Amino acid sequence: MCGIIGYIGNRQAVPILVDGLKKLEYRGYDSSGVGIIPSSDEGVVVKADIRKTHGKIQNLQDLIRTKPLPQSSLGVSHTRWATHGAPNRVNAHPHADCSGRILVVHNGIIENYEQLTQALCKKGHKIISETDTEIISHLIEDAYRGNLLAAVVKAIRQLKGAFALGIISSDHPDMLIAARVGSPLIIGLGKGENFIASDVPAILDYTKRIIYLKDRQLAVLKEDGVRVYNFEGKSIRVKADKVSFKVDAVQKQGFAHFMLKEIHEQPEVLQRMIKTRLKGNKVILDGLNLNERQLKSVNKVFAVACGTAYHAGLVGKYVIEKLTGIPVSVDAASEFRYRNPIVDKKTLIIAISQSGETADTLAAVREAKTKGAKVVSICNVVGSSLVRESDGVLYTHAGPEIGVASTKAYIAQIAMLCLLALKMSSLKKFVKEKTRKKILKDLKHIPTLYRDILRNKADIARIAKKNSHFGCFLFLGRNINFPSALEGALKLKEISYIPAEGYAAGEMKHGPIALIDEYRAVVCIAPRSSVYEKMISNMQEIRARKGKIIAIATQGDEAIKTHANHVIYVPPTDELLTPLLVALPLQLIAYYIAVQLGCDVDQPRNLAKSVTVE
Ligand code: F6R
Repeated sequence: MCGIIGYIGNRQAVPILVDGLKKLEYRGYDSSGVGIIPSSDEGVVVKADIRKTHGKIQNLQDLIRTKPLPQSSLGVSHTRWATHGAPNRVNAHPHADCSGRILVVHNGIIENYEQLTQALCKKGHKIISETDTEIISHLIEDAYRGNLLAAVVKAIRQLKGAFALGIISSDHPDMLIAARVGSPLIIGLGKGENFIASDVPAILDYTKRIIYLKDRQLAVLKEDGVRVYNFEGKSIRVKADKVSFKVDAVQKQGFAHFMLKEIHEQPEVLQRMIKTRLKGNKVILDGLNLNERQLKSVNKVFAVACGTAYHAGLVGKYVIEKLTGIPVSVDAASEFRYRNPIVDKKTLIIAISQSGETADTLAAVREAKTKGAKVVSICNVVGSSLVRESDGVLYTHAGPEIGVASTKAYIAQIAMLCLLALKMSSLKKFVKEKTRKKILKDLKHIPTLYRDILRNKADIARIAKKNSHFGCFLFLGRNINFPSALEGALKLKEISYIPAEGYAAGEMKHGPIALIDEYRAVVCIAPRSSVYEKMISNMQEIRARKGKIIAIATQGDEAIKTHANHVIYVPPTDELLTPLLVALPLQLIAYYIAVQLGCDVDQPRNLAKSVTVE
């Protein structure tokens, strides 16, 4: 949600800043801007310079091409996902103070900005944008007495809310200041150059040495070094980490879209997880940070998550309850803390998040922790805020997910929940060892089955394209594939903008069946399972009302053809693992329909990859 990059060093800043923004574009893409302090001979006074514009980063590139910025090796840039104020040029970042000397880029929300605006206006400051960000540059201007760091400390101590900031000033052409509370910010350490960024991909071309700035930390970056401070202005020692992912992990590698690339990565993601987490039939959950006694004493589980991760949590509910007998509640994280959840020391909270920065999920975790629950996160991003606030973490290690629509993170979350359930079940001895072993065996086989499905993706593409004219889709599933229906609908609507609803198939007759006619497409998730016959009955009800059916079924099920207009087959596996398999055709249906409709698959309108506001 908004992307920041800042540079100080010995190279030209503008290409690095714009290139970095491109890699952060998944975080927001309604407007963008670059601000620099031009290079100058010693003693010559220079003015900060800004280019900003509405729309995607391509617009900013075009603007800089027609109106080039002066040479500079100090600058900040920003790609925006609007919260306060329309996505236009004036509201785009960076924002300057009255004198135009201090430039600020910001990710987050300043909750007390109205109060601060009034106070600043009384003092004569001219605020020109509708954003909650601009006041920060004026607060710094107000506090500035020749020491930029001291002025920034004074200014940010007045802010309430969440922020990651990049700050430069033409009075200090040798310094870039960064600060964070709540919103992610990293520092990249180079040789004779240093960087700030919202996320690692923005600077991966230049360095792999990273400092993950913590909440209430500030950093002063110079060409030849970085110092970190707390909000009292006291210098503190921090350790740099070396990130392991490769540059090509954040490139499309010949695929038309990141989403398609990430769909294709799913066999390797699972293969990797199985290799590191399974030793024979033993599940290894390094990072969980709960001993067997603690795990055995769990008598209630809450999964909290948003969007796709919430759907993974719903699948987890079925698996954990089936294998352990422990009741599981799944909450949309944005709702969790408003309903006074009954949580105690024997409750295990599983917080699921790809980014680990989702504000609602973080808020749910904080609520649960105040009530004494243990929190284990299932997370993809190493060192993220969620991980730092959890008692234990099970990393999915799916690699960077750039496509805004989550794919590989989803299947990795489900697989991790299965592994956790299998581990807990081995302690609880709730199901027979034979049953556990059979599920483990099938799980190990899933990567091969994924490759089989992907080999037939041309058939899925053909079916998707043929049905792309439908103005409304229903997705139906039962039991453990009810969450699959929700996820299939979410994938389609977010990238194709076609209204799509996911329903428990049995609920259809309680209302949604009124929608069915020859103009509706219905995706029926009907692999061989304990509820297969019931799904067939639902499909007959749809056929009787002329609805067009795309069925997702198990290979060898020829009979289903008589109930469906199109059939997409997945290989057989244990019923508990079917959500892992059906996810693939559901993702591909959404992808090919969106491509057919000419939609921007990787950057759908109004969305951002990491939602760091509530
Ligand atoms: C949908 C999607 C979102 C995210 C949700 C949570 O494709 O990507 O629904 O799943 O915003 O994000 P994380 O997992 O980062 O907490």
